[in-house]
Amino acid sequence: MQKKQNEQTKMKILVVGATGGVGKRVVKLLLARDYDVIALVRDAARGKKMLGDRVKLFEADLTIPQTLKPEMMSGVSAVICCSGTRVQPVEGDTPTREKYYQGIKFYLPEVVDSPEQVEYQGMKNLVNLVSQHIQPATDRVLSRMPKSQFILISSAGVTRPNRPGINLEEEPPAVRMNDQLGGILTWKLRGEEVVKASGLNYTIIRPCALTEKPGDKPLYAEQGDNLKGQVSREAIAQLSIQAVQLPEAVNKTFEVKEEDQPGNTNWKQLFAGLS
Ligand SMILES: NC(=O)c1ccc[n+]([C@@H]2O[C@H](COP(=O)([O-])OP(=O)(O)OC[C@H]3O[C@@H](n4cnc5c(N)ncnc54)[C@H](OP(=O)(O)O)[C@@H]3O)[C@@H](O)[C@H]2O)c1
Repeated sequence: MQKKQNEQTKMKILVVGATGGVGKRVVKLLLARDYDVIALVRDAARGKKMLGDRVKLFEADLTIPQTLKPEMMSGVSAVICCSGTRVQPVEGDTPTREKYYQGIKFYLPEVVDSPEQVEYQGMKNLVNLVSQHIQPATDRVLSRMPKSQFILISSAGVTRPNRPGINLEEEPPAVRMNDQLGGILTWKLRGEEVVKASGLNYTIIRPCALTEKPGDKPLYAEQGDNLKGQVSREAIAQLSIQAVQLPEAVNKTFEVKEEDQPGNTNWKQLFAGLS
């Protein structure tokens, strides 16, 4: 009886891109905090192996609207979207994507899928599903409900391609190579616009270069899309969960990197300092 009651009051969160570098960490952290987790994955067998039995898996592809089933949204009150166009070295990667996770500066990258399809059409498909089935912001009465309903992991640099006065030589590879990578940042920005126009409470997180390092450094956030640096995937996973919980995170878009020295982030302060 008690167990049933707990299950009824648990907040259910859908993680999109749950088998990715950030996504799998988000799932792990949510489970550790006793959330109910639904995972959207492209390969359920791989998802089960990676994420275990406590997660309910839905196999779907953002670019194929028919695969995005309403059942996926049953009882879901927030979405953390960690999907992104697959990038790999031109000569290919290992099955566990070891080269990708080393960071783009170590290889010549290419996109595997179309960024327009994944970042823009895919986002339209997902937001269409979510906004039809999530509880509208105005109806939220319970304090345990999420503050941001849609957390999007986007990227620093989305407004920099073709920005007048930008010195590409000083920019990270994703900005320099935006055209060769199918306009990946340009389409990510279009995806952000879809989320902002949805009417959902959102938080758009734009990380600098992602690393596999531990998330043991404080985060620094800024707006205006000029930030450069790096940030651990672990810390971005922590940040995205804070965005679900803190009202200060609602309807904010910002870039984020980590500081040089280890330490903790004051999450409330980080969000409150942004407009
Ligand atoms: N690499 C960087 O330095 C960097 C910097 C800033 C921002 N970002 C962005 O941050 C986000 C997270 O990065 P990450 O390193 O965790 O990426 P990742 O490991 O490549 O994970 C991306 C996830 O998206 C999923 N996905 C791709 N296309 C999909 C589709 N059509 N339908 C459903 N799922 C799809 C992938 O599924 P599979 O597992 O099936 O492939 C994967 O789980 C991405 O948006 C990335 O672009 C990256």
